Amino acid sequence: MMGISTIGRPVPVVRSGHVQLSILLRESDKSTLQNQIFDQIRSMILNGQLRGDDPLPTTRELSNQLGVSRNTAVLAYERLIAEGYIRTKPYVGTFVSPDLPDTAFLSSANNGGGHAAEPAAEDEPEPVAPGGALRTHRLADPDRRRLVADFWVGRPDPRSFPLKAWSQHIKARLKTAGSKLTSYNDPAGLLELRQAIAKHLAPARGVIADPDQIIIVGGCQDGFNLVGRLLVKPGTTAVIESPCYQGAAFVLESLGAKLHPAPIDHDGLDVSRLPHVRDAVAYVTPSHQYPIGVTMSLQRRIELLSWATQYDAYIMEDDYDSDFRFVGSPLTALKGLDRNERVIYLGTFSKCMGPGLRLGYVVAPRRLVDSFRRMKMLMNNGQSWLEQAAMADFMASGEFGRHLRRIRQLYRERRDALLNALAKHFGHCEVFGDQAGMHLVWKLPEGLPDAAEVEARGLAAGVGVCSLATGSALRFDKNDGGDRLLMLGFVALTEKEIEDGIARLAGALRSS
Ligand SMILES: Cc1ncc(COP(=O)(O)O)c(C=O)c1O
Repeated sequence: MMGISTIGRPVPVVRSGHVQLSILLRESDKSTLQNQIFDQIRSMILNGQLRGDDPLPTTRELSNQLGVSRNTAVLAYERLIAEGYIRTKPYVGTFVSPDLPDTAFLSSANNGGGHAAEPAAEDEPEPVAPGGALRTHRLADPDRRRLVADFWVGRPDPRSFPLKAWSQHIKARLKTAGSKLTSYNDPAGLLELRQAIAKHLAPARGVIADPDQIIIVGGCQDGFNLVGRLLVKPGTTAVIESPCYQGAAFVLESLGAKLHPAPIDHDGLDVSRLPHVRDAVAYVTPSHQYPIGVTMSLQRRIELLSWATQYDAYIMEDDYDSDFRFVGSPLTALKGLDRNERVIYLGTFSKCMGPGLRLGYVVAPRRLVDSFRRMKMLMNNGQSWLEQAAMADFMASGEFGRHLRRIRQLYRERRDALLNALAKHFGHCEVFGDQAGMHLVWKLPEGLPDAAEVEARGLAAGVGVCSLATGSALRFDKNDGGDRLLMLGFVALTEKEIEDGIARLAGALRSS
């Protein structure tokens, strides 16, 4: 059965027979307590958590356990009865109505407002099985430990993890943990962490978010699933960049979305290729396109936002490595330009701290906040309290800001070392995406083999470099020139390792 979540109230496990209802009352909510109880029980019925004839707690049990007056519980039940969701059997109890139409038991993902879930049309397509791309995904990576230099992408520098500060925060929190480790906590995440993130996002990314809009997730990957489960049903059109980050595309595809790839050029996503359909979702990486590394121009951003407004689409903005910008001032995230709440912003601590923490966050449009909280509860009841608490303290103490400044400088030096080494060993090189992020893309010059071959020869010589496929990028157009693009992650290697690795790669390519 479901877990339990509270905000500012005692643990509200509501039991009746075998049923435990997880009801989340928020004092900050503008809605009355009675309406919150009504809404949440109705949602549980509509999304199938509660089914016909399931028993409900008595109003006395409900009021005792939620800490509300009996009258509040009675009024909520009366409305549920009046609207046909539940019924009472004299001397027996209260039950979910057995005769609700089947269409009630649909995902009520969007019942938080505005963008309401529609009943399935008769001719709605059957869920599609994950397509070919997902089936070909390699689950195990080759053993990279034997490599002399590994330019693999997406991994931060292990030596820069702030281990000492982190262990101090963990120890301090453990000492005062009290019941935090033995109780269910707010599925949306620790309030202190959400507050710290909101404070960080405003100056760093131009995203003004209320902590209530933030849901802590297990990295962007968990965020993709959360958003996907709310907004994607079989047949939903999902716009993705071509090429794009496969982790997001696979999630959308596995939920039955119809993928709609739109090509990338120097200005980012080609918005002239957006579909003219309603209720689509679009997955984009505007700050540092994955994998190519270009930044979406302001013009395109504005066009993308107006497309979303016109067609009631939602945009998933994956801002995975935006902490690292080496040229000019930080760019405002797409979410910072979003006046109509069409953007769902995804951030992660995987790149600026480490993916082992499995911590990230979603900034939800206000009208979807409740749906997001409920879905997060359904999926896994929230993230580990301890890591969230340590991260909150690390941010609040100012150490996070200092850590970011330190690694930004270090990564810039490593980026420079890579550009210098490429120029030294290969002459003039055409590169993309070197102004930001943790990897750059090198367009292989004529005279060198294609990226897959360069990768194979590099591996044989103990140097790891990535073709787009190895770098977790999915291509939809075989003629996009992507087979001549090589991804080079530069942050996890010292300047010396970078110079030696590129020298070695050059040697391997010359000698074969
Ligand atoms: C573009 C992009 N988005 C998201 C992620 C996933 O990050 P997380 O560890 O937060 O799930 C990655 C990981 O490499 C990535 O490259």
